[in-house]
Order: sequence, then C-alpha cells, then structure tokens
Amino acid sequence: PEPQAAAAVPQAGSESLTLLRRVGVTDPTSLDDYRAIGGYAALRRAFALGPAGVIREVTEANLVGRGGAAFPTGRKWQATASQPDHPHYLVCNADESEPGTFKDRVLMEGDPYALIEAMTVAGYAIGAHKGFLYLRGEYPRALALLQNAIDSARARGLLGDDVLGQGYAFDIEIRRGAGAYICGEETAIFNSIEGYRGEPRTKPPFPVEKGLFGKPTAVNNVETLVNVLPILTGRTAAEETKLFCVSGNVDRPGVYELPFGVTLRELIDLAGPPRTIRTVLLGGAAGSFVRPDELDIPLTFEGTREAGTTLGSGVVLVLDETVELPRVLLRIAEFFRDESCGQCVPCRVGTVRQEEALHRIKDRTGADAAGDIALLREVGRAMRDASICGLGQTAWNAVESAIDRLGAYE
Ligand code: NAI
Ligand code: SF4
Repeated sequence: PEPQAAAAVPQAGSESLTLLRRVGVTDPTSLDDYRAIGGYAALRRAFALGPAGVIREVTEANLVGRGGAAFPTGRKWQATASQPDHPHYLVCNADESEPGTFKDRVLMEGDPYALIEAMTVAGYAIGAHKGFLYLRGEYPRALALLQNAIDSARARGLLGDDVLGQGYAFDIEIRRGAGAYICGEETAIFNSIEGYRGEPRTKPPFPVEKGLFGKPTAVNNVETLVNVLPILTGRTAAEETKLFCVSGNVDRPGVYELPFGVTLRELIDLAGPPRTIRTVLLGGAAGSFVRPDELDIPLTFEGTREAGTTLGSGVVLVLDETVELPRVLLRIAEFFRDESCGQCVPCRVGTVRQEEALHRIKDRTGADAAGDIALLREVGRAMRDASICGLGQTAWNAVESAIDRLGAYE
C-alpha cells in the first residue's frame, strides 16, 4: 500500500483515555503487546456471560451507535440474535467517509486487535459465525494492520473453528470500498459485498431481519464495537467517553476522547482555538453549522439534538473569520451531488438543483437571492421527505443551518 501518515492523537499516552489508551502506546502489529495491556479479557468475560448476558450488559450500559445515528446497540443485537432465520451475520461498518471524520481510522491503525476482539464478542452475542469488516478503500494503512491482526489472531486460536477453545467458530473477512461515500450506508454495504452496485435498499425491512444475503445482520460502526470491550471489563456509565474529530482552524487538530457532556467550547479550547471563531460545523456535511454564541452546547446526543443540531459522527470543524462561507457551502453541495447514487429522483435531481442555486447566489450581485433561497428550501424539503436514504435526507442540513443560524447570504 501507498504510505499514509498516521492521524494525530494529541492526548496519546494520557491516563484519562479508555478507547484510545493503547493508541500510540503499543505496537499495533503485536498481539502480545495487545494482550499485555488488557487484550482479550473482554472476550473471556463474554464467554463466561454467554450471548444473552453480553447483550444484557451492553443494553444496561445504554451503548448507542457511534456511526452517527445513535441507535441502541443492545436493541440491535437482541433483535438480530432472536431471529429464527440463519445464518446470522455481523458487519462492521468501517467505511468512514463523512467529511471531517477520522476517529475510526485512528482506532483501526492504532489498536487493530481491539476491533478484531470486539467483532468476535459481537458475533458471539448475535449468534454469527462470520463477520465482514467493510473498510474504506482509502485506508491502506488500516487495511495492512487489520489483516495482520486477523491473521495472527487466527494463528493463535483467537479466530477460527474453536475460538479460545470455547467451541465457538468465528472468522472475519475484510472487504474494501472503492471510494463511494454511499457505500457507507448499511444496505449499500450489503449490495457491495454481494457484488451488486452500491445502492441503498429501502428500509424496512431493517438489516436485523433481512440484511446481508437476506439474512439477519447486525451492522455496527468501529467506535461502537470498540466500546463493548470496556463495558464488559467493568467501565461504569459515568466513565463513558466519546471520540471527537477536531479539524479546521485549531492549533492541535486530531482525535480527542472526552467524557460525554463536555461543552463544545471546552473541546475547542483543548485543541487551541483561533482568535475569532466564525462558526463550527458539527456532525459533518450531514450536520449543521453553529454560531460562536452557541459554544456552550453540551456534547451529548441529547444535548445537541435539543440545541437543534447533531453530534453525528463527532465532527468538529472550526472555522475562523477568514472563512468564505458561500464557497464552503458550494463545496458541500458539490460533494452531495457527486456522491448521490442517483437511484431516487429527489436526491439525484435535488442535489443538482441545490448546487445550481448556490452557484447563482454566490456569483450574482444579489438581485434575486431571496428567490433562490426559497427554491433551496423547497428542494431541501423534498429531499428530506422523499429520499430513500440518509444521504438525500441530510443533503440540505448544513446549507439550511448556514442560512438560518448564520445568515449566510444576508
Ligand atoms: P438510521 O437512523 O436509519 O439507522 C440507524 C441504525 O439503526 C441502522 O443500523 C438501522 O438499521 C437501525 N435501525 C433503525 N430503526 C430500526 C428498527 N426499528 N429496528 C431495527 N433496527 C433499526 O440511520 P442511518 O441512515 O443508518 O445512519 C445515518 C447516520 O449516519 C447519520 O447520523 C450520519 O451522521 C451518519 N453518517 C456517518 C458517516 C460516517 O462516516 N461515520 C457517513 C455518513 C453518514
Ligand atoms: Fe441514492 Fe440519494 Fe436516493 Fe440515497 S437518497 S438512494 S444516495 S439517490
């Protein structure tokens, strides 16, 4: 693979870390290093608890999905485990592509065995014997490290026909994406693995019922899975943390691990804020812009929702007063237009109309901006209400927030 620089972890080595505690500290190619710092204790505990016991602990810990949608993980696992149809599959969604998101990359490159162990625990809980790790194609470094982790775990009896001598068979296969953002949508992943075009399927049925190859499937994000390890080894709810991807005009960009509930301001202060903040994009291109007077929002899924925004995949893109907002909005619109799979009309046509209107507003002297903003609202509503998947449903979020919260074109 082509060389790729490691992503930054400004807190590396700090005692306060849980999910990132081994990142930058242990050798990611060494299974012995991993085991020396707590590795495989969670899987042993899982075997002691049994599948139902694992699901109970994950449910009681209130773990919710970290890909962005915050769906309760225990509920997803229970729904998959209870399906009478077999086989059951586990899919790890590692197609991390939301602009500004790089937390899963840090976990996979810095602590690959943790993901392999966590997938084994998840597979055991839901009654699967096969897990697919669907990896973003642009992550060659993660690919090499994860493949090494899988191979060495298998060689040591931690994957394969008889995991840890417990009579449970489980193995993991890596599949790579090929650069399409839409292939991070869970049902597009199924199509991609099955050899079809990477286009989303309509839901319901949800994957827990009919997923990969039409069989019950649990799809979990990398950070979600890695959270299961500290839950099984005794982390309390009060100790729960979240990974944040801080980028833009800050002194120390990178992935930060902090307890839920710290404020946006506290996080940005830690990363070294610019002299003046014009806005912060929270939650990625599918998220929303917030104003500098809104920085005391607590960073929880509920807190951001109450503030009319979203934590999404943990993106915190800080922009100072030099930012040209119309250009940023056009770039976001261009991205969605480019990445729409084209399967449904509201998104295929709406993302084009959105980009065209933003071009007109940016390039003209202001003559009929109001008409174009009205058009944007109408198109945005149609995309949100009538698109098949999250891409089309959220393609207007950031632009809408820039107009309504920041007065982008006033
Ligand atoms: P969703 O809300 O439709 O579903 C979330 C999860 O819950 C899915 O796994 C779904 O199958 C499951 N689910 C929902 N209702 C269910 C039910 N009744 N029974 C069983 N399972 C159910 O959200 P979606 O479209 O999967 O994800 C959207 C999120 O993805 C957004 O928040 C966005 O921020 C994030 N995203 C993250 C990216 C990244 O790179 N991390 C990229 C693009 C989007
Ligand atoms: Fe494809 Fe967009 Fe429709 Fe999703 S909303 S299925 S990306 S065209």
